[in-house]
Amino acid sequence: MKTLIVYDSVFGNTAKLAQAIAKALDSKAVKVSECTEADLQSLDMIIAGSPTRMFKPMPSMKSAIKGLPDGSLKGVKVAAFDSRFAVEESDSKMLSFMANKFGYAAEKMLKGLEKKGGTAAAEPIGFFVSGNEGPIVKDEEKRAAAWAKSL
Ligand SMILES: Cc1cc2nc3c(=O)[nH]c(=O)nc-3n(C[C@H](O)[C@H](O)[C@H](O)COP(=O)(O)O)c2cc1C
Repeated sequence: MKTLIVYDSVFGNTAKLAQAIAKALDSKAVKVSECTEADLQSLDMIIAGSPTRMFKPMPSMKSAIKGLPDGSLKGVKVAAFDSRFAVEESDSKMLSFMANKFGYAAEKMLKGLEKKGGTAAAEPIGFFVSGNEGPIVKDEEKRAAAWAKSL
């Protein structure tokens, strides 16, 4: 099965999660800015990953998904993950409220992939990082690998 993980990352945490997922699936992870036409050929599954920024995916991920031709993911399994604030580290009720209301990157990317014809292989999922720059919360890379294997 040919699976591709396409991600973006500012501080490197989502990149590490993408690599953990790629390793678990014995597949390749590419940064969205470096993704080629050849990478997208004959895919069985595509997994999108992005940091959550202002409740959304990175603009790069959003436009890459939007730019896929309509119907191009027909017959392709799709999944999405994000990295996000470890909300439990914050005692800000406002932040929790906003996150509940406006959501996270993964659900938005998954919707975009489904819109292009893909079939969701799993619920969108988020992995926690400490603060803005990380590091990734303990055992989240393991959780990411386990999630990938469940797809
Ligand atoms: C400008 C900015 C906006 C952010 N917005 C959110 C947000 O809405 N929700 C959230 O959970 N985390 C938010 N974060 C935390 C990021 O998700 C965190 O920086 C990211 O997971 C780190 O991933 P990266 O190392 O791959 O860039 C934000 C961080 C920055 C710098």
